[in-house]
Amino acid sequence: GRMAREAALWLLLLFSAHLLLRRASAIDRGQFPPPTSFLFGTSTSAYQIEGGYLEGKKGLSNWDVYTHKQGTIEDGSNGDIAADHYHRYMEDIELMHSLGVNSYRFSIAWTRILPRGRFGHVNPDGVAFYNAIINALLHKGIQPFVTIFHYDIPHELEERYGGWLSPEIQKDFGYFAEVCFKMFGDRVKFWVTMNQPNLLAKFAYMNGWFPPGHCSKPYGNCAFGNSSIEPYIVGHNMILSHANAVSIYRNNYQETQGGYIGIAVAARWFLDPIILGDYPAEMRKILGPTLPEFTLKQKKKLHATKLDFIGLNHYSTWYLKDCIFSSCEMDPMDGDARALSLAERDGVPIGKQVNIRLLNTNSCY
Ligand SMILES: *[C@@H]1O[C@H](CO)[C@@H](O)[C@H](O)[C@H]1NC(C)=O
Repeated sequence: GRMAREAALWLLLLFSAHLLLRRASAIDRGQFPPPTSFLFGTSTSAYQIEGGYLEGKKGLSNWDVYTHKQGTIEDGSNGDIAADHYHRYMEDIELMHSLGVNSYRFSIAWTRILPRGRFGHVNPDGVAFYNAIINALLHKGIQPFVTIFHYDIPHELEERYGGWLSPEIQKDFGYFAEVCFKMFGDRVKFWVTMNQPNLLAKFAYMNGWFPPGHCSKPYGNCAFGNSSIEPYIVGHNMILSHANAVSIYRNNYQETQGGYIGIAVAARWFLDPIILGDYPAEMRKILGPTLPEFTLKQKKKLHATKLDFIGLNHYSTWYLKDCIFSSCEMDPMDGDARALSLAERDGVPIGKQVNIRLLNTNSCY
């Protein structure tokens, strides 16, 4: 169909399977709009499930290299095999079908399609792998939602120019996205440019937990990095890479392929620039020269690209206390955040505790 470029703002809610099961007694499908207008789905990312890290002529990713390095992962585990989805995808799709879902969001491993980024060839084995998945999903009536980037990049890009720290990545990301549109866009109608870019900025360049493991004191003890400035440089390059991919899709593929493109976020410092063309004013005030500037041309590009939908990753609910206008005792590990997320208000918990708090993911938002 014809694209409504200006209009469609979609809120895509992805319920995780356990939440569905836990509430199964209280909620049923009939309370929601029909599958033609409201989809339930499952969601994964390539590195977390695929395994097959050396198969199908795949290149090495930043995660492959990082997890194989001594001392980076506490128990020495890695994603070499993971959930073995690379071999068992048909079984996994059967399982999804048996759950009754109508959509599935997965990411494409950059290194399967472009083992060396834009410095090498398009790998036919990688293309064939995702073709098989997409075709099997459609055969089962499951809409593929493809995340183009979910934290794994070709290691070669890390080596050549420092990955997300360099504006060079914008070209590589655009190239990768275009190969995906070209190869899969006849069947994939929902594109998510990237998953939660704020978490990559924080975990890889502030805390040093994700590759390339950059940080500085007091955030952590890393060999390289600067926790006060790198997350913002990386965020800036991700925003411009996103805009690059959207603009390529709008200009060359959307009209003929008839799909939608958006992003999956958990934060405002990415949505403001992506939709309005610049960072929030408070953010600029707090960060000053640490926050990179967009050129006039880049602002125009951001303004022009827009989004067809917004993906919101929702895990759990917290109270948020404003720390710009009221005083808070900030945890220094929350960096430049000016908000506290709290599980209680006046001593009353927001809900029943269902899990321990594994990661403090609330800063850098
Ligand atoms: C991080 O970069 C800022 C700005 O260049 C500088 O002032 C600061 O000293 C750097 N911090 C570290 C730990 O290198």
